[in-house]
Amino acid sequence: MRVLFINPKYKSFVSSLFLVFLLSSSTWVASASLQESFLQCLNENSQFSVPYSTFCAPNNATFNTLLQSSAQNLRYLEASVPKPLFIFTPLLDSNVQAAVICSKQLKIHLRVRSGGHDYEGLSYVSQIESPFIILDLAKLRSVKVDIDSNSAWVQAGATIGEVYYRIAEKSKVHGFPAGLCTSLGVGGHITGGAYGSMMRKYGLGADNVVDARIVDANGRILDREAMGEDLFWAIRGGGGGSFGIILWWKLNLVPVPSIVTVFTVAKTLEQDATKILYKWQQVADKLDEDLFIRVIINVAANTDKKGQKTVSTAYNAQFLGNANRLLKIMGESFPELGLTRKDCIETSWIKSVLYIAGYPSGTPPEVLLQGKSTFKNFFKAKSDFVRDPIPETGLEGLWKRLYEEESPLMIWNPYGGMMAKISETQIPFPHRRGVLYKIQYLTTWQKEEGNEDRHLQWIKKLYNYMAPYVSQLPREAYVNYRDLDLGINEKNSNTSYIEAIGWGTRYFRQNFGRLLRVKTKVDPDNFFRHEQSIPPIPTSESLRFGSSERGFD
Ligand SMILES: Cc1cc2nc3c(=O)[nH]c(=O)nc-3n(C[C@H](O)[C@H](O)[C@H](O)COP(=O)(O)OP(=O)(O)OC[C@H]3O[C@@H](n4cnc5c(N)ncnc54)[C@H](O)[C@@H]3O)c2cc1C
Ligand SMILES: *[C@@H]1O[C@H](CO)[C@@H](O)[C@H](O)[C@H]1NC(C)=O
Ligand SMILES: *[C@@H]1O[C@H](CO)[C@@H](O)[C@H](O)[C@H]1NC(C)=O
Repeated sequence: MRVLFINPKYKSFVSSLFLVFLLSSSTWVASASLQESFLQCLNENSQFSVPYSTFCAPNNATFNTLLQSSAQNLRYLEASVPKPLFIFTPLLDSNVQAAVICSKQLKIHLRVRSGGHDYEGLSYVSQIESPFIILDLAKLRSVKVDIDSNSAWVQAGATIGEVYYRIAEKSKVHGFPAGLCTSLGVGGHITGGAYGSMMRKYGLGADNVVDARIVDANGRILDREAMGEDLFWAIRGGGGGSFGIILWWKLNLVPVPSIVTVFTVAKTLEQDATKILYKWQQVADKLDEDLFIRVIINVAANTDKKGQKTVSTAYNAQFLGNANRLLKIMGESFPELGLTRKDCIETSWIKSVLYIAGYPSGTPPEVLLQGKSTFKNFFKAKSDFVRDPIPETGLEGLWKRLYEEESPLMIWNPYGGMMAKISETQIPFPHRRGVLYKIQYLTTWQKEEGNEDRHLQWIKKLYNYMAPYVSQLPREAYVNYRDLDLGINEKNSNTSYIEAIGWGTRYFRQNFGRLLRVKTKVDPDNFFRHEQSIPPIPTSESLRFGSSERGFD
């Protein structure tokens, strides 16, 4: 990048038009040569030669398709958003090591993408550093299930749906407790916690990790023993992109019954939705641990009053057992919902996964092997944790705000059970005992509207409205629902770690301090960084090397 340096003394003599020309043409030359240098460096640092075809630059016809492939949030694919210099898709673990060594050597900022579901696009866009490249792990996706040892080694680029499929292929009575959406990449997903419909029985995906292989900031591959318990603790819930690159997770499988029951029962305001939801808030975390009932809330057409709207609350559930036992539990604990035998669908665990993920009934489980995402949208989301039931008046105010937005969506997710039994400091994910449920707020829109700001303002207003009803000091948030409104790391700031206490304690509560200490120990130069990565606490050494050496960026 030194090619681009123009002595500021001469700057004023250069006409602005010429400067623009000079900059754009030399940027092109510089990026082509950076890609060449990177490839050369990879080859010098690899046992096997790295194929040219693993690179894709913007001048390649397949670039947009590849960039978009797993990217979930269409907001971060717009033309105005910064694009990577190139995308490198490693075929071997050792390529990942070499990529760390080379991007360090060539001072190119690196982003890592597994499943591309990051809410703020952090795995494929850098708004704070340029140039940057993407290391896309999409081709590192093997899943090795070993039923005898009750475990599986899964590679970071696999989707969680592929993991579920490969487990079910070998056994009908084994499963894994992680995300509901089956296209999530295990690389990013499990680093932030990974909750799903079995969390009340078995905890999070991250609670069920027993070993891992990561590439650290020095390009070494480390397993649990080699990385030590501090780093192994940090990567299970401390969020992606801060400590190293996960290559593999070793997962502990959990037992599932051969018959699982699912149901969805929707109630509108005309069907007493507010009263029933008030009751759900009191029972959802106390129900039998085999039962997970989440509530999906949106605005629907009012079938009673033509042309008017109503709020729909859909109770979407998975029960680890048969319908008879489920009906008995519901009759005792939550009769207000009025669940009947004909609402219940008895099925296998893997088919219950498809049901909860929203696939139409009859979809074969093989769909999970396509690893395709089902939710591509322009969207903005936020999260809250609720520790006391919201009174009915609070809910009524919430409905009013939902009516103001075109496509609002909320998902209320029950806690309790195993979630309340695991200590807050066991892994970095801290939202445990005392949490009744988590709220996710979402708004989605179409590009054509061209009025992103209106939606962003709406969700901010909603979030303000909810403040008195949700957890406070800190107001907790889920790191896997990344929200840059909570604060971002300033580029090259040596005080980022102080500013980060704001968002850091919301995501991690008291665990944030330990995350800062682990980061400072394993990556003091802050190689793995993004808008909301855990910052190191600077020493005078890292301060000296932390500032930009480049002329232009
Ligand atoms: C439609 C949808 C549904 C969702 N459902 C759930 C759910 O049911 N449960 C739940 O818990 N969460 C859910 N999430 C949130 C999800 O867990 C996070 O977005 C998660 O970070 C996605 O991981 P990824 O690999 O797909 O994303 P990516 O965008 O690839 O990565 C996310 C972050 O992790 C980093 N990262 C990626 N790979 C690695 C790696 N190998 N090593 C280290 N860092 C890495 C990235 O740089 C980025 O910062 C959902 C998200 C979406 C969009
Ligand atoms: C374009 O990118 C693809 C990978 O997406 C690669 O296989 C191909 O070789 C690239 N072509 C050129 C000319 O770089
Ligand atoms: C941050 O760096 C500046 C100089 O760049 C220095 O003056 C300041 O004291 C540093 N702050 C901390 C907290 O280290």
